[in-house]
Amino acid sequence: MIGCPASEIVSNEWLRNGYYALMLNAPTIAEECIPGQFVLLRGLVDGWPYLRRPFSVYSSDSESTIEIVYKVVGRATAIMSQMKAGEKFDVIGPLGKGFTPGEECSHAIGVAGGIGIPPVAYYCRKYVGLYGRTTLVVGAPTQDELLIPVGLVVEGIKIATYTEHGSKGSCGTALDGLAGLIEAADFDPGSAEVVACGPREMLSEVAGLCLRRGVGCQVCVEEVMACGVGACLSCAVPARAGGYLHACKDGPVFDGGEIDWGRGLER
Ligand code: FES
Repeated sequence: MIGCPASEIVSNEWLRNGYYALMLNAPTIAEECIPGQFVLLRGLVDGWPYLRRPFSVYSSDSESTIEIVYKVVGRATAIMSQMKAGEKFDVIGPLGKGFTPGEECSHAIGVAGGIGIPPVAYYCRKYVGLYGRTTLVVGAPTQDELLIPVGLVVEGIKIATYTEHGSKGSCGTALDGLAGLIEAADFDPGSAEVVACGPREMLSEVAGLCLRRGVGCQVCVEEVMACGVGACLSCAVPARAGGYLHACKDGPVFDGGEIDWGRGLER
């Protein structure tokens, strides 16, 4: 874990419909970061809430900058959206356990629902050269809520989009897209690796489908986090082996079979 106590904003651009892309100068974090890890941010401006806020990293250039794609959903992100180039954040990271590239796999399948796209897109872009085939399935309720950042269109990644009523892309959910790939006659379960991020219900279904079909599956969970370092226990995830795992320290990336999804969905 590294701290950048005065990380300067390079750019903070509106993308669409409440989504923004924040680029920060944070060389030591950029060098260490892998897809699935996150950072804790505190804006060095008046009015920022007491606690730092966790954000998945969307990209890093391995030299100086990290990029975060975020949606305005509350006070901190509203303040964040107004910050300009040259203003600063206190940043801690990279934190948590990231995705592991699938050994001896030839097909990477990213599955992103809602605002779960940043870590999955980062994975697909970083490791596209490792796989013969990379498919990114992105789903959202409507066209307005669907986010495909321009930088995501990378040679070698096939992007399939789904909306619930077909306003953009195919009609259905990201889970339907994954099911379509897995059910294809030429699909080889042993050669594929699924990485997913999105609502817990979606992740539960993705993990269940992959387990049934013998496909490797890693999920990046989105939990409420306060401390980000394993001290406050606010990010507990029920473990299949009993007890709880903590998303900030043991995750946020887990093997799909590690989580007790039934117990997790009770709350
Ligand atoms: Fe505090 Fe995970 S956020 S223990």
